[in-house]
Amino acid sequence: MSVADRIPGVSQFGSVDPAPPEARGDVAQWKATLLDESSPMFQRMRSVFSLRNSGTDEGCLALCEAFSADSALLRHELAYVLGQMQNSAALPSLIERLSDPDEHLMVRHEAAEALGAIGNMDAKPALEQFLEDENPEVAESCEVALDLLNWCASPQWEDTKW
Ligand SMILES: [Fe+2]
Repeated sequence: MSVADRIPGVSQFGSVDPAPPEARGDVAQWKATLLDESSPMFQRMRSVFSLRNSGTDEGCLALCEAFSADSALLRHELAYVLGQMQNSAALPSLIERLSDPDEHLMVRHEAAEALGAIGNMDAKPALEQFLEDENPEVAESCEVALDLLNWCASPQWEDTKW
């Protein structure tokens, strides 16, 4: 069996994930693996996708807690999947990542886009605050996220489904 045969391919979120979710286990176990700095990155990534696929508030909050991770790559992935989950429980953590000037640009950019994807207008003030950010990656992501929020809130959304 080749690697291609083993990877499940397109997820329920329409993305091809960099690591397949771990089918065995539960939210508590995946969270423990994710938060374990000594676990291999591949296993931690698998836990990210398992937690996302759980679709639970508990899974969402475990992903938020993992923003304490040392790896900027992992933090960026967390922001991305939190956007896919579209759970407003992630808003405070995503706003905190976007607002931290010491955070990696890739993470701030992804946090901004996730705030747009979640579709909760409560994210608007934070996105507006960084529209003029000195880093174009952040400023442009806020612009796109605000446009997405406004577009979803407009009547035209009713007849122009994705
Ligand atoms: Fe990105």
